[in-house]
Amino acid sequence: MSPSTLLPDAGILGFIGCGQLGRSLVRGFIEAGVVDPERVVIAARSSAAETAKALGVRSATAIEVAGEADVIILAVKPADAPRLVTGLHFQLGQIVISVVAGVPRSRLQVSPASLLRVMPNTACRVGRGTTALLNSGDELPEDLALARALFEAVGVVFELPDEGLFHAVTALSASGPAFLFTAMDALTDGAVAAGLPRDLARRMVVSTFVGATALAAVPGSMPASLRDEITSPAGTTIRGLQVLEQRAFRGALVEAVVASAERSKELAREAEKS
Ligand SMILES: NC(=O)c1ccc[n+]([C@@H]2O[C@H](COP(=O)([O-])OP(=O)(O)OC[C@H]3O[C@@H](n4cnc5c(N)ncnc54)[C@H](OP(=O)(O)O)[C@@H]3O)[C@@H](O)[C@H]2O)c1
Repeated sequence: MSPSTLLPDAGILGFIGCGQLGRSLVRGFIEAGVVDPERVVIAARSSAAETAKALGVRSATAIEVAGEADVIILAVKPADAPRLVTGLHFQLGQIVISVVAGVPRSRLQVSPASLLRVMPNTACRVGRGTTALLNSGDELPEDLALARALFEAVGVVFELPDEGLFHAVTALSASGPAFLFTAMDALTDGAVAAGLPRDLARRMVVSTFVGATALAAVPGSMPASLRDEITSPAGTTIRGLQVLEQRAFRGALVEAVVASAERSKELAREAEKS
């Protein structure tokens, strides 16, 4: 499915909630040619007009978006999502795509529209997103095909058969970039401490990450083997790795992902009560 055929003729792509993630998706979809700006309509609580102006799209109320859009991306905070959706009226033929962390499909009543669960990340803004798409067997194939094509236009899509896996995915690919940005920031400080000017250090950190991820992306390569390749006996790398081991760097990352997944489970429990 090519981007130009993603939406029905003159179809409207709506966003209910357009904050950090919503804006990234709007920018990514427009940049990828999935949708023209004049066919995007966004709703927010108080920032819709300002956000719409910045993105070059139209703003409306959530009720209006639910009334007119063919595909609606629900991108509000988990605590707001179930109650907000209950107050809206959807129609048969519409597809609602929830990107809300933690909240299971059972808590979002969008009938008679179809509901899909997706977990993207903000790298969709630059066409390098990582998106999980729930394919539990209940979804219509044509709805899944549309969502897959939409998010493949802005990155890579992984289909998951079980909604329970979304907690781990949220921790890894949605929250995970924040762990990596923290590492990049710290490496920059380390390079400054070792004598590099900050701007040069910042640019070299980004380039180092790009190179390392390109190596890790080669089919069949393993991060541990790539690490061993650059770790010569009594060399500079092993000295640095020793410090990371002493400071439990690996354990901290493992625990960060597990803690983030636990928070996603908590959000699901909170959504059950709301
Ligand atoms: N950020 C990420 O990297 C990421 C990744 C994957 C999934 N998610 C999920 O995406 C969702 C949004 O996250 P975010 O980081 O984009 O949050 P955010 O920046 O706080 O944006 C939330 C948006 O929802 C709007 N909103 C709140 N209540 C509303 C209402 N009653 N009616 C209409 N709009 C309403 C807000 O409008 P105002 O600005 O006017 O208040 C804002 O536009 C969350 O469920 C999160 O779990 C986020």
